[in-house]
Amino acid sequence: MTTRVLTGITTTGILHLGNYVGAIRPCIVASRQADVESFFFMADYHALIKCDDPDRIERSRLQIAATWLAAGLDPSKVTFYRQSDIPEIPELTWLLTCVTGKGQMNRAHAYKASVDANLAAGEDADANISMGLYSYPILMAADILMFNAHVVPVGKDQVQHIEMTRDVAQRFNHLFGQGHDFFVLPEAQVDAEMELLPGLDGRKMSKSYDNVIPLFEGGAKALREAIARIVTDSKLPGEPKQAEGSALVTIYDAFATPAQRAAFRAELQAGLAWGEAKQRLYDLIDAEIGPMRAKYEALMAHPERIEATLQEGAAKARALAAPLMARLREAVGLRRFQALKASTKEVAKARPALPVFKQYRESDGRFYFKLSAADGRVLLQSQGFEGGRDAGEWVKRLKTEGAGALAAAPVERGEGVSEAEVAEALSALLAAE
Ligand code: TRP
Repeated sequence: MTTRVLTGITTTGILHLGNYVGAIRPCIVASRQADVESFFFMADYHALIKCDDPDRIERSRLQIAATWLAAGLDPSKVTFYRQSDIPEIPELTWLLTCVTGKGQMNRAHAYKASVDANLAAGEDADANISMGLYSYPILMAADILMFNAHVVPVGKDQVQHIEMTRDVAQRFNHLFGQGHDFFVLPEAQVDAEMELLPGLDGRKMSKSYDNVIPLFEGGAKALREAIARIVTDSKLPGEPKQAEGSALVTIYDAFATPAQRAAFRAELQAGLAWGEAKQRLYDLIDAEIGPMRAKYEALMAHPERIEATLQEGAAKARALAAPLMARLREAVGLRRFQALKASTKEVAKARPALPVFKQYRESDGRFYFKLSAADGRVLLQSQGFEGGRDAGEWVKRLKTEGAGALAAAPVERGEGVSEAEVAEALSALLAAE
């Protein structure tokens, strides 16, 4: 089975080396696996919660999008989009808001921390706390549930939000699912690496500590200058130096092969000067990110190309979000008007006959399926599969994901059948589920 991995980055600032090592790089590597389907997005609605400077929001979302692409994200393999391009997300947020207990949100760490800070400062408990901040976890739950992600890579501080997402999903499934679940319960994935990269002063690299090494911003010069400021002990050239506990060495390790790590330690032990060590670190990092920086600069010079990529990503994402949202609206009672309490018989008559999937085996011994319209015309014809299970899995995916699964499905449209007709047939099936 394919695993759906989803994560977002809040677009309020620029990214640093810690974001690259801890989030971007591992996510891109994982997205290249055959059995992984990745969803990466700019959490720009979340950004509005923390920032009321429109220019900063605009700049940050462009920079972060360019960073993902420059770092090697392949938008044809990954669904890559801006949260704010998916209107189904705020729509789902509202449905979830209506099944989330206020008490549950009272317990959110981020909100509680703000309350504590207010009280400590002798202010009103809720001073400067917007409803956006308060409801932050529900918007995040909608991000995740909209695409039924199985795995959500996040930092430790976000684990509680994933737990809340599970609770909300469970509650919605229970209230409206009538025996079948709309939402997958996601798992947080906290990569040890995510937290590891130290900053210039040895504490975790973080904008709030002002100890970051910039990723692309400021060019090679800024990288060199930041590295020069990494705090080391005062051992002189020629004196043996300890790798253990050194921020410089930990950062080196994040870019080095095991052989390079061992060699670096041996040199330090043999008295390598810290100045030299910093030069080695610069060379190592720049070998990896230098080519990306060139790509980043080229992308930043052509925002319209990034825009086009994100529009395609939004279309891909909405092909999944829209049919699910239609089912959710139906489930909560936001339905097209029809006579109330119609007997089942009448309902059956009123509804147009549905298209059907059929699975079968051909004389070549292979397994096939097709989707036929109510009038018998073939809308989709699959290729042959080795096993009946493979055919069955594809049928299940098309039934549960609708047109969103089409691009990857090994099927061809019937003669004279339009893409729109297939999409409509699949969403009719989804709605009837
Ligand atoms: N709250 C996350 C952070 O600040 C960003 C985010 C928003 C996110 N929506 C998400 C992460 C959904 C994972 C999944 O780091």
